[in-house]
Amino acid sequence: HDPESQSILDAHAWLTKLYHHLLRNSKEGQDAYEYLLQRGFTEDTINRHQLGYSPSSNDFVVTFLEKKGFHPQQMVKAGLLNTNEQGGYFDRFRGRIMFPLRNHLGKTVAFAGRSTGAQEPKYLNSPETDLFQKGRLLYNFDLARGSIRKQNQIILFEGYADVISADQTGIQNGIATMGTSVSDTQAQLIKRYADKVIICYDGDDAGIEAAVKAAKLLKKAGCETNVARVPNEMDPDEFIKKFGGDRFRREILDASDPYTSFMIRYLRRSFNLQLEGDRITFIERVLQEVAQLDRAIEREHYLNEIAEEFQMSISTLKDEVEQLRLHQS
Ligand code: GTP
Ligand code: MN
Ligand code: MN
Ligand code: MN
Ligand code: MN
Repeated sequence: HDPESQSILDAHAWLTKLYHHLLRNSKEGQDAYEYLLQRGFTEDTINRHQLGYSPSSNDFVVTFLEKKGFHPQQMVKAGLLNTNEQGGYFDRFRGRIMFPLRNHLGKTVAFAGRSTGAQEPKYLNSPETDLFQKGRLLYNFDLARGSIRKQNQIILFEGYADVISADQTGIQNGIATMGTSVSDTQAQLIKRYADKVIICYDGDDAGIEAAVKAAKLLKKAGCETNVARVPNEMDPDEFIKKFGGDRFRREILDASDPYTSFMIRYLRRSFNLQLEGDRITFIERVLQEVAQLDRAIEREHYLNEIAEEFQMSISTLKDEVEQLRLHQS
């Protein structure tokens, strides 16, 4: 590393420890710690993921980093400090629960700070640096790596809390991106480490829309992609906390839909199949999805379903799909 990157890494290492210590031991961190326990995160989990607390003071980190000899201007670049109009420095993360964002080597390269109350934004992230690019980092990959390799499968969650909850219940191949959108680079990274991926986003509309986008990208990257659905607008963390890990495995992960089934179900929601025009558009969109399947037996499976549902001949549908496939290649 160049000296500036090294000093950014060092500062993040110190602060990971300090924030964690403050969560576990300080009076000010006590409410945050109890909040996490209340949410069902265990002491072991809090330690394993190095969760922390940033005090609400304006200059706690300023003073700490100064004492350690860091250049404040570099620390601004690193996103640990902000500058005010008088040219002074103040702490960027104040009064937040701190999630260290670790790179694949387990080094903290950024933080996400969750507000404990009503302050907006709910999650405040570090800005991008040479060491932290949102579109390249996979949250928890360092801890998940072994399990990912063993299972040749990745579970992609929306939130850090979902990853941590899953991990706590023994599902160790979970990762997340920073927010809901997956980049091309992240899709390629995922494919590099595992052939199979299950997208397990929140059950609300935003989660479903994001799952469609992620599924298309991951499919394009060559992953065998399944999509899980969490019911009643819950997110995976809430489901696990309410019903336990066994039910999450059986009812959510094991029941996830292969990409094409998921897309058909999603398309079905977007059309009014009572209307003839909608019906035809729906069928066309389904055929486009089916045309992308490499295996004839899979194509036939979905075509049979459509033929039966809409009382069409399978040979017409097959012809259409063959046409689409000719134009694809
Ligand atoms: P909890 O409320 O603690 O359970 O978090 P969550 O993981 O359920 O959060 P949510 O579903 O609202 O968001 C999912 C992910 O989107 C988070 O883990 C963040 O990465 C990101 N995110 C959510 N809110 C914000 C925000 O206000 N700002 C930014 N930058 N990212 C956010
Ligand atoms: Mn949200
Ligand atoms: Mn959400
Ligand atoms: Mn949540
Ligand atoms: Mn959520």
